[in-house]
Amino acid sequence: MTAPTLIGTAVSRVDGRKKVTGAAKYAADFMKGSQIAHAVLLGSAVAGGRITKIDTQNAEGAPGVLLVLTHKNADRFKSLPTDIGQGGVAPESRTPLSDNCIYYAGQCIAVVVAETAEQARFGASLIQVDYEKDNWAVTIEEAAGTVYKPKQFAHEPLQLKRGDFDSAFAAADVRLEAMYRTPVEHSCAMEPHATIAEWTNGRLRVYNSTQFIVGDAAGLSTAFDIPLDNVEVICPFTGGMFGSKAAMFPQILLAAAAARRLGRPVRAVLTRQDVLTTIPHRTQTIQKFELGASVDGTLTAMRHYTLSHTSLQDEFAEPTNLTSRHLYEVPNYHGVHELVRINVVKPAWVRAPGEAPCQFALESAMDELALRLRMDPVALRRRNHAKGHGQTGKPYSSKYLLECYDVGEQRFGWQNRPAAPRSMREGDSLVGWGMATATYPGYLMGATVRVSLENSGGQVRATVATAGSDVGTGLYTMLAITASDHLGLPMEQIEVKLGDSSLPPCAVAGGSNLTASTAPAVLGACREMRKKLGCADDVSIASAFQASGMGAIEATCQTTPIFGSNDQFTFQSFGAHFVEVRVNEDIGRIRVSRIVSVFDCGRIISPKTARSQYIGGIVFGIGQALLEELVYDPQIGRPINADLAGYLVPVQADVPDIDVTWLDKPDFHFNPIGCRGLGEIGITGVAAAIANAVFHATGVRLRELPLSPEKFLASQKTGPR
Ligand code: MOS
Repeated sequence: MTAPTLIGTAVSRVDGRKKVTGAAKYAADFMKGSQIAHAVLLGSAVAGGRITKIDTQNAEGAPGVLLVLTHKNADRFKSLPTDIGQGGVAPESRTPLSDNCIYYAGQCIAVVVAETAEQARFGASLIQVDYEKDNWAVTIEEAAGTVYKPKQFAHEPLQLKRGDFDSAFAAADVRLEAMYRTPVEHSCAMEPHATIAEWTNGRLRVYNSTQFIVGDAAGLSTAFDIPLDNVEVICPFTGGMFGSKAAMFPQILLAAAAARRLGRPVRAVLTRQDVLTTIPHRTQTIQKFELGASVDGTLTAMRHYTLSHTSLQDEFAEPTNLTSRHLYEVPNYHGVHELVRINVVKPAWVRAPGEAPCQFALESAMDELALRLRMDPVALRRRNHAKGHGQTGKPYSSKYLLECYDVGEQRFGWQNRPAAPRSMREGDSLVGWGMATATYPGYLMGATVRVSLENSGGQVRATVATAGSDVGTGLYTMLAITASDHLGLPMEQIEVKLGDSSLPPCAVAGGSNLTASTAPAVLGACREMRKKLGCADDVSIASAFQASGMGAIEATCQTTPIFGSNDQFTFQSFGAHFVEVRVNEDIGRIRVSRIVSVFDCGRIISPKTARSQYIGGIVFGIGQALLEELVYDPQIGRPINADLAGYLVPVQADVPDIDVTWLDKPDFHFNPIGCRGLGEIGITGVAAAIANAVFHATGVRLRELPLSPEKFLASQKTGPR
């Protein structure tokens, strides 16, 4: 009687039709019509100082303008925690419009609300602002005097030692010291940040583009000091986020404040320029690796130094050494992190925060070490394979990295790789092959899922509900597949409800954790329901329910958070990328012609959406390697390429055929479904694999991202950088 198992089979997205037909509603799509007012945020023209005078009279008198808020007349919001937790997350400790101080260019200094967005924008252009400017710094180099050592990131120490690095490095047979640089990168989601806020009898409803529905609701409740029951946050679809929609940016609170003043719904949508300037970026990093090894390739010493930036008032240390401290087995390790303070919005999480820049530097350094040792790059990694976390000593719960190398080598044809650089040429291009390891922790931040069944006209229908957001990852589909299997009910009879804070609470859609948080909760709720129905294990729940004659039944389950480890195990995912590039030396053009990637992320529930996640991550990696860089101009104190014409991301022509496979080994120590997340691992290591392939093609080692034609040509002239 049980329905055929769907877990691991190629099911198409349940929301696919809605998305391709435009029926899927994103935050700014709700409540179209004349009752809605439009807010535009005005940003500071300077990157540091104070507002000495702000004249809003002309703006207030402009056609259609309904309200102008500045620090002089805005609401005072209660402050929120800046760390991610159960409640709402403030992007910065300072609340919006709280005083006349300016900490970065583009910082919101006024909100203009009007009948139309165009009128609001025109009104904002009429506001006259006088500033008293401070000296500002927007690059690490300008801020060297502010350097300090941050203590920790999310409770993990950032300065740490094990063994004796100095002695081991001095005694090593082979040593490598190399410096790598990564630029400011941006999450740059397709959908800009958008909010519609509406008050009805003291109740606040907010349509918001978010990855943390429950957090936003809690944050609004705190900020406006109203009961949580009086807040509803709605977000059925999110058009990408990549870390940038976990915190509550000013437009959320300000749209809600303006809506309360006006007694009308207010809509605020950031421009692309606002997004790139005022929504947090990934910091610039300067990383130095010092590696010591014995002649057989065994790593004996590793020092990883990182210099990155944070904002003037808050701390965010892109946590690079969380990865280097355990990816390979190294007895003598020293991690050092330094920060400088510059005039930018507080940096935050972007697409594998920590792992993505670390893996560029570490996996490039491993390639350089392999060359020095005259070893195959994969052989060097096998030699230093770690069975457990070097710092905590806890074994990995389930690790199949060696198998990823095996499968990747085979699918790519790595055995045919000539060891020497500049060995392969085709037409006007040199051809090179490079590889790198991918890795990302296993997180499970917890969710409550409610599963209910009802008998409607003789047919059993199920609803699966939790207040998570499907940020494009496939959560709707994955939950439908999981519920179908465990209830014994076809997918067509299951509705998945997400995207509303009134549903059972669910963690942030970040840290690649939501599948591991929600799928086991579906299983738990189904087990609970089986108990309630008193039905045997081999009977389908749906059939038992139908036989019981009941009209409806429901059960819930809550999963307990796990942040990368428990008492016994480290939970970590792994993978390997093998890349082919073609480099035209005359013009410095680097093109990626082939990628083979193999992953070990536990059991795969929904292969189609998993594959799409992996590919998405790998495409991010191509962007990180070749194109992406937000460039700050010290004179004007803001990015000069804050739009999609200037901030380059990969397009179809930049992306080759990507061969993605996975090992599908369940990790039952992590949760009873055996799944780990896979949203972010795809990006990790790609940039290094590409840089390593460029070296193999040309003999030119590029240690600074992005690997632009200009940098390649400059390196040729001056020798390897
Ligand atoms: Mo991701 S950068 O944890 O949303």
